[in-house]
Amino acid sequence: MALCCGALLVGGLAGAQGRSYQPRVVGGTAAPADGRFDAVARILIDRTTQCTGTLVAPRYVLTAAHCVYRPKVLGVPLAPAPSVKVTLGTTRSDGAGGTAYDVDAISIPPEYDDNDHHDVALLRLTTTASQAPVKVAGVGAQPLWAPGVLETVAGFGATSEGGSSASEMQVAQVPIIDDATCRTRYGTFENATQICAGYPQGGIDTCQGDSGGPLFGSDANGAFKLVGATSYGDGCARPGSPGVYARVADTTLREWIRSIAPAAIDDAV
Ligand code: ARG
Repeated sequence: MALCCGALLVGGLAGAQGRSYQPRVVGGTAAPADGRFDAVARILIDRTTQCTGTLVAPRYVLTAAHCVYRPKVLGVPLAPAPSVKVTLGTTRSDGAGGTAYDVDAISIPPEYDDNDHHDVALLRLTTTASQAPVKVAGVGAQPLWAPGVLETVAGFGATSEGGSSASEMQVAQVPIIDDATCRTRYGTFENATQICAGYPQGGIDTCQGDSGGPLFGSDANGAFKLVGATSYGDGCARPGSPGVYARVADTTLREWIRSIAPAAIDDAV
């Protein structure tokens, strides 16, 4: 892994944007350990299920509903809050160097369904996080998630379809795909609570374990705003099969989030 990524870094630094990581692929590149991704949460449920999330307010981590809604496994709609463990402030998949948090309440929208519509959850931490939140893009911020705009994804998930997780959080960039195109690919896609991102040729995508993790837009100052949360896809990084994300910055999910965690929304444009 060190050989692989060192080589990629050498090749990737020529990027016009001057970022310290190369935007590419499922398995992308290791997140810089400079604090920029401190709000990205590593989430473990029952010590087995791995998901990703984003600290959106001092006491709230946003993730995917499907990460915590598992009636088939548990016989109850929601994972018990004490079974959910959150680590913030680390780029290491083992959580090294990060801060561990417990959860005392889990909320999902009542409309969350088998087609992964409304696929968001809010985890309330038992204590205030010491990391800085990245808030959800607010009213008027649509230009940050318009079709064609490049977004940043991050997660602790698999680096190839069917593969294992990297030892470091991975980051990459993917463009937003227009709703009509996404609808032709996924029959259950709906554009109130879902949004797609990826390349027609595939190659760069989120994957298993990244669920709930961020699709970040960047504001005029280059600061992240949360616009999506990883939900599903057909395999990972396949040509013609983009990733589907919860559309957290559009009205339906944004206002649901606001109703539980008002501080999670950034209405400044
Ligand atoms: N459902 C997956 C998870 O639970 C995320 C899959 C994302 N897939 C994709 N092709 N973008 O981790």
